[in-house]
Amino acid sequence: MKTRVVLPALAVAVLMSSSSFAQTMVTTRHNFQLATNNVRVAPGSPEDGLCVFCHTPHKGQASLLLWNHRISSSNYTWSDVASAGGRTTGGTSYPTNLRTWTGSTAKCLSCHDGTVSIGSLYWSDATANPNIPMTGPDVNAAGQLTNATYRITDATGADLAGNHPVGVPYPYDRLASTYNGITSGPDVVLSEWVARPTGVKVFGTGGGGAPAAGAAGVECASCHNPHGTPNRYMLRVTTASSQLCLSCHQK
Ligand code: HEC
Ligand code: HEC
Ligand code: HEC
Ligand code: HEC
Repeated sequence: MKTRVVLPALAVAVLMSSSSFAQTMVTTRHNFQLATNNVRVAPGSPEDGLCVFCHTPHKGQASLLLWNHRISSSNYTWSDVASAGGRTTGGTSYPTNLRTWTGSTAKCLSCHDGTVSIGSLYWSDATANPNIPMTGPDVNAAGQLTNATYRITDATGADLAGNHPVGVPYPYDRLASTYNGITSGPDVVLSEWVARPTGVKVFGTGGGGAPAAGAAGVECASCHNPHGTPNRYMLRVTTASSQLCLSCHQK
């Protein structure tokens, strides 16, 4: 009869602790354990938490971010900028090396280009290369993302045409900057940038650490926080009144 009293107390304790360790993530589309999400682990798969789809304490793909999701073999390009010399209006080169770049963009694209199973990991529960079966209306039988809204590339999984530049320098402190081997182009109007953006996240050398004058850049995670935010689409800053864009662009 004692268990009747003890069990509910335990359940409350477990609920409280799990909600405080993953306060924002649990309700996002990045919680693949959530049965109401359109992409989720198939019934009967081992329950190994939220973090394992992206991070592992051991035997990951990379030390930086302890990355645990299989990287795509796509060589990303912005196909339609070739005629403009592969450059932005400011004359900055679009990156051609995103797949091997240490910044987190390739990690987002490892799911969001639709070519790799969401459940294709490096290490989980003492198993090498587990392929966790996924289900839901937005994945195919191979666990790849099929909903074109959430697939950021075109259907080939390699073309980023039409997407905001990522893996490119940010003119931090209104100075030309070098990031991912790319230097701000000659026609970037340096006075039209927020010197030190807040709310959004500008990255430092290699895509980790703090930005500095001359060494700062933009990744997918500049605008999004993959662990969730109070804003829609996990955006770091609301799009209301263009606040997100104006966090960087002084227009
Ligand atoms: C869908 C993929 C994904 C999931 C799931 C995920 N993360 Fe992350 N995490 C990332 C990415 C991408 C970054 C890098 C983002 C950045 O640099 O801002 C990151 C960064 C981090 C960092 C280092 C930077 C920081 O924000 O402190 C920690 C620590 C971290 N995650 C912990 C966790 C934990 C704990 C969980 C589970 C509760 C989790 N993550 C779930 C993708 C994920
Ligand atoms: C492990 C695979 C995985 C990784 C890594 C990953 N995502 Fe996702 N993401 C998903 C899936 C699956 C969905 C849900 C798609 C659906 O519902 O059709 C999603 C949804 C989203 C959404 C939509 C959120 C919403 O509320 O509508 C955004 C934005 C997003 N991801 C951005 C990112 C960014 C940015 C990164 C890297 C920092 C990233 N994701 C890394 C798998 C991933
Ligand atoms: C300059 C800011 C910015 C960057 C950089 C950025 N996003 Fe987004 N993203 C947004 C905004 C704003 C939305 C909401 C668009 C809307 O209202 O439909 C969005 C929406 C999304 C969505 C939801 C589906 C959709 O298309 O509306 C996904 C998934 C996503 N982004 C993934 C990514 C990935 C992956 C990258 C990197 C390759 C990335 N984002 C880079 C600003 C950004
Ligand atoms: C985290 C900072 C940041 C945020 C937030 C941001 N941008 Fe950008 N944006 C950049 C950088 C850096 C470039 C590249 C500038 C260059 O070197 O030419 C850029 C380039 C652009 C370009 C020029 C592309 C070209 O090829 O000429 C446009 C247009 C643009 N952004 C629009 C937006 C819009 C719209 C938003 C809001 C949804 C936004 N940006 C949010 C940093 C940001």
